[in-house]
Amino acid sequence: MENWSPDSWKSKPILQQPEYPDSSAVKKVEDELALMPPLVFAGEVRSLQKQLADVASGQAFLLQGGDCAESFAEFNATNIRDTFQVMLQMAVVMTFAGSCPVVKVARIAGQYAKPRSAGTETVDGIELPSYRGDIINDIAFNAASRTPDPERLVKAYHQATSTLNLLRAFAQGGFADLHKVHQWNLSFVEKSPQSEKYQHLAKQIDDTLAFMEACGIRSSNVPQLKETSLYTSHEALLLNYEQALTRQDSLTNRWYDCSAHMLWIGDRTRQLDGAHIEFLRGVENPVGVKVGPTMQPDELIQLIDALNPDNLPGRLTLISRMGADKITEHLPALVRRVKEEGRKVVWSSDPMHGNTIKASSGYKTRSVDSILKEMKGFFEVHRAEGTYAGGVHFEMTGQNVTECIGGAYRITEEGLADRYHTHCDPRLNADQALELAFLIADTLKQARGR
Ligand code: PEP
Ligand code: CO
Repeated sequence: MENWSPDSWKSKPILQQPEYPDSSAVKKVEDELALMPPLVFAGEVRSLQKQLADVASGQAFLLQGGDCAESFAEFNATNIRDTFQVMLQMAVVMTFAGSCPVVKVARIAGQYAKPRSAGTETVDGIELPSYRGDIINDIAFNAASRTPDPERLVKAYHQATSTLNLLRAFAQGGFADLHKVHQWNLSFVEKSPQSEKYQHLAKQIDDTLAFMEACGIRSSNVPQLKETSLYTSHEALLLNYEQALTRQDSLTNRWYDCSAHMLWIGDRTRQLDGAHIEFLRGVENPVGVKVGPTMQPDELIQLIDALNPDNLPGRLTLISRMGADKITEHLPALVRRVKEEGRKVVWSSDPMHGNTIKASSGYKTRSVDSILKEMKGFFEVHRAEGTYAGGVHFEMTGQNVTECIGGAYRITEEGLADRYHTHCDPRLNADQALELAFLIADTLKQARGR
């Protein structure tokens, strides 16, 4: 990699960074983090890259999801377990529907920094810095809380470490047993008000498992049935955190950002000459880029050139987030151009960030209907262009929150106040997320020509 070093981003224009009152305190924390063990190992990152290469060539499907923003306050074993559980449940439905492996990448163990549309927030005439995620400042609206505190980087690192430790235990320790995950799905279907919509698919999976069992394929003799792999990801926004965890792999001498397996660049920080592109172009991790409605085909090709000059399949995931009403208008030209230029990418759909609305009560929300509509639009565009719709990207939680409206349990605008806990954008709750997996099963099946 020419003219790149872990700190070469520092010579580029950068957006969405905090202003710390004391730069020597920041330097001290960066030095401390640089000595900490990496969170992930380069070999794992290479395995994910291989699996994403399978997605790029249409042989697998990507499921990415988790909190908009992880927080210090909501950090506990139950929340981690429940997010993992709902991802497993969705993955089983999608694996069956698409008859292909589902690569699971969570927004977890590092998703702490948030880009904001405004640098400050004014309440009752008082103007303070915006909340930028728990790794930077605190959500409470007072001057002390909103002042960026570098010690939060260390706290976030330790929280990410213990989150990842528990996830690894769940993935390998028996929690992910396929039969158990299917039982959870059956009880979800049984109690859902929309039960009849999901029964058919659940029954087919049930029959398949019974058939496999009869043939002697059991968790006790086939490890793949009781273990899984879950990869981690977050937006690489706070670049001094990312740089501090970037290490040279002793086997290949290449640079890996060991804060997570996969990193992405947000829609607000994807400037071609900017610091975020500069940093991520030099690390070997699979990289995602959010592609919003302002993206132009030429710009997209330049961005691909910058991030994936060798056209390696699995290196780059383009995460489209257009909005339900804009996707069929904006996405085709981009997909067509990437195809014409022979670029090997994964196309994934984030049906969340283009569909955020403000409820009359003031809460930020999203409707399950528009989320479903954008996803269907995404599949439709790829079908028309003869390209592969490779994945989905959700903001969701395993908790029973009321942040998005609609779904089988018909959460209304009035009901949002009941359990609205997000630190940033509204998430699908466990039932809504699983419903969406069932609702796109047929679309996925068609897209994969099954
Ligand atoms: C996000 O994924 O939480 C996010 C901020 O997305 P985007 O950059 O697409 O707005
Ligand atoms: Co978000």
